[in-house]
Amino acid sequence: MMAQARRSFELNTGAKIPSIGLGTWQAAPGVVGDTVTTAIKIGYRHIDCAQAYANEKEIGSALQKLFADGVVKRDEVWITSKLWCADHAPEDVPEALNRTLRDLQLDYVDLYLVHWPVRMKKGSVGFKTENLETPDIPSTWKAMEALCDSGKAKAIGVSNFSTKKLGDLLAVARIPPSVNQVECHPVWQQPKLHEFCKSKGIHLSGYSPLGSPGSIKTEVLKNPVLNTVAEKLGKTPAQVALRWGIQAGHSVLPKSTNKNRIKENFDVLDWSIPDDLLPKFAEIEQASGLLVSTPWPRLNCICYLLNVFCAP
Ligand code: A2P
Repeated sequence: MMAQARRSFELNTGAKIPSIGLGTWQAAPGVVGDTVTTAIKIGYRHIDCAQAYANEKEIGSALQKLFADGVVKRDEVWITSKLWCADHAPEDVPEALNRTLRDLQLDYVDLYLVHWPVRMKKGSVGFKTENLETPDIPSTWKAMEALCDSGKAKAIGVSNFSTKKLGDLLAVARIPPSVNQVECHPVWQQPKLHEFCKSKGIHLSGYSPLGSPGSIKTEVLKNPVLNTVAEKLGKTPAQVALRWGIQAGHSVLPKSTNKNRIKENFDVLDWSIPDDLLPKFAEIEQASGLLVSTPWPRLNCICYLLNVFCAP
């Protein structure tokens, strides 16, 4: 079978989002700049950022150097960033993007997402239940639409939205979201959400496409189906997980700060999982939910928020 490269997916704006983006969540300060440089030199053309990751300044410096050195031009790289929960008030939305643009040293982002359908008190840091406020997505979205009108965000979208929340948003949106970025991997395939997005022309972008190995979540890379397919194809389980996502029509956002793994994760475009092996993925037992209880109170708080606001 001829491999379909699927280097990008077309959004409802007509723009093409590269199918592999470098995730930068938990890419530590002091490391993330070199990571971005390495990834761009390997061939990545999509960097997934967020103000909440607290590393946009360093990413901005790395990008500037890459532009100045002629490694890549601004219009050849896709940059996504996200509006944090404490900036949902309509008057705070443009300032939040301005901050991100200052940090990234850019005039525009290719995609700006509402990070969570969760609102926190202005000025608050992190996820703390005592800082929760009632979200008003329609008014936040109106401010997002204005960013699109201004050209500072070429496309706008959301992250961690359920079908219900997307439906509510579509009912009031003048500019429909281009993307819903959610956790998605072979053990959390989200078929209903994906079908819904597809039917509405919303592209699904998958974060944690490897299931964040080493975290307390399901061990995606140890999954027997993934390992069997990987062995048959002479690929790694990580590559199979990423290629499955691309063939399912998602862009994938693997995070790595390790040069070999950054390269390994990009090496998924010139081969494909053959049709006869694809049904095996439907056999994979799905996680009952990613909402887990842990010994760490901070993490439990995040899980609580996921449970309350983002259940699919
Ligand atoms: P590292 O940065 O040391 O490579 P996800 O994108 O699903 O959240 O997964 C990110 C985690 O997976 C990071 O801990 C990253 O560690 C690790 N990782 C990234 N690429 C691979 C790979 N190809 N094989 C195994 N682990 C990987």
